Amino acid sequence: MLEVIRADITTLRVDAIVNAANNSLLGGGGVDGAIHRAAGPELLEECRGLGGCATGDAKLTKGYRLPARYVIHTVGPVWHGGAKGEPELLASCYRRSLEVAEEAGVKSIAFSGISTGVYGYPADQAAVVAVETVRETLKACPGVEKVVFCCFSDRDREIYERLLG
Ligand code: AR6
Repeated sequence: MLEVIRADITTLRVDAIVNAANNSLLGGGGVDGAIHRAAGPELLEECRGLGGCATGDAKLTKGYRLPARYVIHTVGPVWHGGAKGEPELLASCYRRSLEVAEEAGVKSIAFSGISTGVYGYPADQAAVVAVETVRETLKACPGVEKVVFCCFSDRDREIYERLLG
């Protein structure tokens, strides 16, 4: 089941939220900063032990003070015009996040709009990759029952609503 909402992802009561992190996994601005602030300093402590994360990969931590039990940290591509492997790397973020979720027994998961802030990926193109990849990957993730696309603006929410029908 796929859903779209406009919300601050740090408030969501789901098993896992997906963070748009950077390769260091040591925090930053945007949704990453909001998640670290809401989860508390224990999250940074755990992230320090992970040794970073490659672009397109995903790593799991606990959610600490968040309502979500887990945070899945994924690193999206920086947008360089679309011919530098950006769509494949972004698809990999959604695929790897769902694989990590499935492995952890996650039933409900909420994604932020990976790469669509500071990293500059056009929101409409990113949403197509997100929805297509999630639909495809869910076939191999029988434990994941609910996927929420968590948008931070009404404009982004409308893009997803159109795609999901
Ligand atoms: N809840 C849900 N979505 C949010 C929230 C929130 N609280 N805050 C922002 N967004 P960005 P990126 C949306 O820039 O482009 C960080 O510094 C936002 O509107 O957070 O992948 C990292 O450390 C946008 O649609 O992530 C990296 O260095 C989406 O989240 C870098 O930014 C992603 O925007 C990653 O850049």
